[in-house]
Amino acid sequence: MSEQLIIVSGSKEDQYISLLSQLKSLVEDETDLIANLANVCAALKEYFNFFWVGFYLVKKDSLVLGPFQGPLACTRIKKGKGVCGTSWAEKKTMLVPDVDQFPGHIACSSLSRSEIVIPLLHEDYVWGVLDIDSKELNDFDEIDLYYLEELCHTILSKKHMP
Ligand code: SME
Repeated sequence: MSEQLIIVSGSKEDQYISLLSQLKSLVEDETDLIANLANVCAALKEYFNFFWVGFYLVKKDSLVLGPFQGPLACTRIKKGKGVCGTSWAEKKTMLVPDVDQFPGHIACSSLSRSEIVIPLLHEDYVWGVLDIDSKELNDFDEIDLYYLEELCHTILSKKHMP
């Protein structure tokens, strides 16, 4: 992929298919983890204009803030805490339509209303999470979940582990 992102119009599904194909060639051409995570954040933000897009990476007993796009965010999250720490502990995607209804949600910004967190898994080991926040309630659905998992599980695979 060149540094130019091609944004197609059409359904959200069409947009994810186009974005993921571009991201796949982008990460195939680059082995550096941080460079790839940074470009994935930038591409997701530019494509869908999400409020906040970022990665947290597992370091010892915490998730530590990695590459992101959006307002400043909290830097460390313990396992099992908030939406991100729960995704890490349970090794599963968390789709939260209303963050105020999620017990223990960590509010980095009061403007965030809904959220999706996908674990970065390799052979049952979580090495980080992708966190996306929206200013709208109920902004993520099964289409987001399917394609963002595809991104995290297939495109950001073993060779990208820290
Ligand atoms: N809301 C997250 C914390 C990270 S920020 O949203 C960027 C959580 O509850 O884990």
